[in-house]
Amino acid sequence: MRRRIMAANWKMYKNAKQTATFFEQFNPLIDGVAHCEVVVFPVAVSIPTAVEATRETPIRIGAQNLFWAKEGAYTGEMSADMARDAGATWALVGHSERRQYFHETDTDVLKKTQAALSAGLTPIVCVGERPEEHKAGKTDEVLVRQFAVGIAGLTEEQFARIAIAYEPIWAIGTGNTATPEIASQAHKLIRSEAQKRFGREAVERLRILYGGSIKPDNIQGLMKEPEIDGALVGGASLDPQSFSKIVKAA
Ligand code: PGA
Repeated sequence: MRRRIMAANWKMYKNAKQTATFFEQFNPLIDGVAHCEVVVFPVAVSIPTAVEATRETPIRIGAQNLFWAKEGAYTGEMSADMARDAGATWALVGHSERRQYFHETDTDVLKKTQAALSAGLTPIVCVGERPEEHKAGKTDEVLVRQFAVGIAGLTEEQFARIAIAYEPIWAIGTGNTATPEIASQAHKLIRSEAQKRFGREAVERLRILYGGSIKPDNIQGLMKEPEIDGALVGGASLDPQSFSKIVKAA
């Protein structure tokens, strides 16, 4: 059995004070929860606050983004080592909003994943098709390309340390969550691509999360699928009650 990962992507919500308040309420709600990993991705400047607020808990904190260079003249960027130094142990890479608004490519995703790994962070690499690609029946084609360019270039040792999140863009923030069957089918495709490149054993250990309009009332159906190894939750993770219900469904 793969240990599930329940992750909260806060995007550009919550300042440091709101971050601290969240954990004051959230930590007791999931006290004793040990069946899955819980990871929260706050805004970069609130990473130290989040780390401090979760020190006595199994909750881990991650960076939503990082740049691949170690340091240099890259105004506005943060390196993987800097994120690690701030207390992050995980990183999101290639979220669709990074791809859409900041023009990240699959090649960037590979470099960022490698940088995260060299800094000792655990990357969750995000993939998923756009609404028009979904409508045109191109989901498989897109996932194959994103895997080939963004992930297949890792070494076996590197691949063993990543998780993947399947997040169809038509499902993000729209309320249209993918059905458990659609999500499961995409996860199988990703797993079969991974198996071709990295072999069966590596793929049996690979954790693939689903993300896109997860809510307390649809998480159970998704978690019934053995192919779904966790959740990447945006909107519904901002509220401690709601995210704790999602975590408990893992
Ligand atoms: P959502 O976002 O849960 O608000 O749809 C998910 C994500 O973008 O990771």
